[in-house]
Amino acid sequence: MICSVYSFAVSGIEASVIRVEADVSGGLPGIDLVGYLAGEVREARERVRVAMKNSGFFIPAKRITVNLSPADERKGGTGYDLPIAMGILCACDIIPAVLTDGYGFVGELGLDGRVRGVTGILSCVYEAKQRGFHSIIIPSANLEEGALVEGIRVYGVSSLAEAARHFTDTGGTLAEPVQWNGADTETVGDFAQIRGQFLAKRAAEIAVAGMHNLLLTGPPGSGKTMLASRIPGIMPKLTFEESLELTKVYSVAGLLPADGGMMRKRPFRSPHHTATVPALAGGGRMPIPGEVSLASFGVLFLDEFPEFRRGSIEVLRQPLEEKRIHVARLNGNVEFPAKFMLVAAMNPCPCGYYPDRNRCTCTPDMIKRYKGRISRPILDRIDLCATMPGIPVQELSAGDAPSGDTSEGIRRRVECAISVQRERYKGTPYRYNSEVPGEAADRLFALDREASVLLAHYAEETGCSARGYYRLKRVARTIADLDGSTKVGNRHVTEAIGFRMEEDANVS
Ligand SMILES: Nc1ncnc2c1ncn2[C@@H]1O[C@H](COP(=O)(O)OP(=O)(O)OP(=O)(O)O)[C@@H](O)[C@H]1O
Ligand SMILES: [Mg+2]
Repeated sequence: MICSVYSFAVSGIEASVIRVEADVSGGLPGIDLVGYLAGEVREARERVRVAMKNSGFFIPAKRITVNLSPADERKGGTGYDLPIAMGILCACDIIPAVLTDGYGFVGELGLDGRVRGVTGILSCVYEAKQRGFHSIIIPSANLEEGALVEGIRVYGVSSLAEAARHFTDTGGTLAEPVQWNGADTETVGDFAQIRGQFLAKRAAEIAVAGMHNLLLTGPPGSGKTMLASRIPGIMPKLTFEESLELTKVYSVAGLLPADGGMMRKRPFRSPHHTATVPALAGGGRMPIPGEVSLASFGVLFLDEFPEFRRGSIEVLRQPLEEKRIHVARLNGNVEFPAKFMLVAAMNPCPCGYYPDRNRCTCTPDMIKRYKGRISRPILDRIDLCATMPGIPVQELSAGDAPSGDTSEGIRRRVECAISVQRERYKGTPYRYNSEVPGEAADRLFALDREASVLLAHYAEETGCSARGYYRLKRVARTIADLDGSTKVGNRHVTEAIGFRMEEDANVS
């Protein structure tokens, strides 16, 4: 008799349905597994056989063939153990096959019959619901994660016997639906703790308000890392949908927090400059997301920016443009989201103290070479640049009095500016000012006459590139949005010029 049960394959952060067919017939006793399987799935044969025996199930001395379809999709991971075992139990008539209709199964088996947790459960449960399954049986270790999906019954089991008992008696724990109780905005600290650095703080506010990428330059200890790590705290709160997508990414990466719940905070990822391409972009035989995806809806911070190797930094180009990344795989590509805001930090020169001539020992040539190490195509995608001077010790030790606005105060202004953009970009493919390309910016950004004249004049004087011109325009638009102004005025353009790239001003 042929019996089918259903499971799921995860590719990127999306899952698809896999049918597990089991057949019992005469012939040499044994289990055969077919269906374009990766090594670990082929090994399931032994795991499943021993786990079934140790769970007290008698396997008839017959030929058992298990096929995983569709046949053209490569199946990897250990999540097929449980569905394979369930398929065999149905085919052997140990479980009435009709009872498993409408069920999905995911889980790894230990030799003792225990069901172990797997990665990517959220995507599987989500797909099960979308495809009309009424229930899904998953490892109890993943139950909290599975419970995040509404509209499907999610059962957690800790052993194969418990999963089987579900269909004959009562086995498994039904997940309680999880209530979304809002995002968490807590970060390592508050903006008000950063002394001085008002320009840099303002640059961060503008950057977040228009989702612009940001470059911070300053000597060691000026607070670049401190500022960058607080940026998630001034971003708007995560919405439920964003949180769900982020949780899928972390689930596939196997990085969900131990309580298994949702990702409720915007991430701050700070890969080291020696990070490899797969660590940044994602990869592996069963591709898992890299830093660019783990930073989605939050900040990707590249400290010591010029130290990053060209080769590894170039992988940022696609995600910066498209907000997603393709990871090459044996058979085709896997896609992960990569919707981060880039914050890069660097010293002004190799020793870090330029232009302080008392401390800086670098020659102009050394400085030029140091800056030349930065990838130009990436720099082209950074709209704002802020210099952070060294802070005098007296100022640092000036007590605990807050310095400037709190993160919450800044976040409120940012949220207003973003809602203005939502309105403006209704019916367009854009969401933030930073995403609007040249021609569209000319059409969508209203500049008053003075501002247009100033911008044109500035462009002519400095000979700035078309790229630089539009960068200024976009930043000025965001500044005007923060200001609650429908038209971009003179003062907005002037402020934007203050945050321009040094390179843009130097082109002549
Ligand atoms: N503006 C500031 N206000 C308050 N504390 C500061 C400020 N700048 C630096 N600090 C203190 O100095 C420490 C070092 O700062 P941080 O690591 O952010 O410097 P940095 O600019 O990243 O230096 P580096 O170039 O060496 O990476 C911080 O943890 C903080 O305690
Ligand atoms: Mg630092």
